[in-house]
Amino acid sequence: MPKEIITEGKAQIEVDTADIVSKDLEVFYNPDMVLNRDISIAVLRTQFDKPICIALPLAGTGVRGVRILKEIPELVKKIEMNDASPEATKLIKENLERNGLEENETIRISQKDACLFLEDSDGFDYIDIDPFGSPNQFLDTAIRKLSRKGILAVTATDTAALAGTYPTTCKRKYWSTSAITPHKHEMGLRILARKVMLLGIHHNKVLKPVLSYHYKHYYRIIFECIKSKEQAAKLLDSLQAFVNYDKVTADISVTKNPDESKTWCGPLYEGELHDKEFLEKLLTNYKHKVIEKAKEELNVVGSYDTHQVSQKNDLRLVPLDDIIRKLQEKKFEASRCATNLHAVKTTASFQKLIEVMKELNA
Ligand SMILES: C[S@@+](CC[C@H](N)C(=O)[O-])C[C@H]1O[C@@H](n2cnc3c(N)ncnc32)[C@H](O)[C@@H]1O
Repeated sequence: MPKEIITEGKAQIEVDTADIVSKDLEVFYNPDMVLNRDISIAVLRTQFDKPICIALPLAGTGVRGVRILKEIPELVKKIEMNDASPEATKLIKENLERNGLEENETIRISQKDACLFLEDSDGFDYIDIDPFGSPNQFLDTAIRKLSRKGILAVTATDTAALAGTYPTTCKRKYWSTSAITPHKHEMGLRILARKVMLLGIHHNKVLKPVLSYHYKHYYRIIFECIKSKEQAAKLLDSLQAFVNYDKVTADISVTKNPDESKTWCGPLYEGELHDKEFLEKLLTNYKHKVIEKAKEELNVVGSYDTHQVSQKNDLRLVPLDDIIRKLQEKKFEASRCATNLHAVKTTASFQKLIEVMKELNA
């Protein structure tokens, strides 16, 4: 496999190069994930103000670990980089050296299965689950080993299952049925969030999403851990929602049982996908449209895809910003949707939205 030295943030890393990224690459480096790593570093800066214990159970080339050590050394009490692959752990060592760093009491490298690695540890304040595919098999152990006020960062690249292409796989892995609809990516995030939160509940931990996003080929949710038996029990009520999509009109509804006459998905998490206060602070550390869009979007489940609504209700397409402005003039809350470019999130009913769109058509 041809190798190359690249610079990412303050790190210089040797990586395998290939035209197509695949999990068959000897050691996996994906340039599409630079944003994922940029945001992790900003999240660490935002959440913590003293040195913490960091776990990278699927460390790959070690790029995330080297960047943390070079860019925020003041926050590292201990960092452990683990990968099951011998090629990866060799490369992590080489990449540390290349950046003037070495294995010591603070910086640890291991070559174990990620769950065993976590199991053998004393626990961490930040755990990053960043696999190729589903994070599923690593979640329970990671949650158990996460400290109070700790951060669990979860990547899922199996978006096809979560977004409805493989609803049966989704059901098996995430205990929820996915569906192909205009809001499939928001629902994919909500299904993933629910699975993580359900696993947290039986460890008396509330995993509260502070940022959830879909970018290129992956989903990413950053959770803050709150240890509370009372809150954990209450959380269950917000994990039982079904979202129904009417293919004839493009209307949506949120119910406690699926509406079998519609295209439905669930059960899923119906609470907030982001913590707006956290995002405000995050933006002072790192500005990116992914975070800005998340901060701007209204906290309601689902959205109306205005292209679909127009087409299915014989309306002329009007600019999304005009629809949002008109809804706000009528004292409804309304915003763009972070996971669908053409969609509006609003507190207005479908009938009110149609009225507004008709007015704009006149
Ligand atoms: C997507 S890559 C990790 C990328 C890395 N987190 C980053 O930020 O660049 C996934 C890595 O997980 C490793 N891996 C896969 N299954 C594993 C397991 N069960 N335990 C530990 N490592 C595993 C692979 O060897 C691969 O290096």
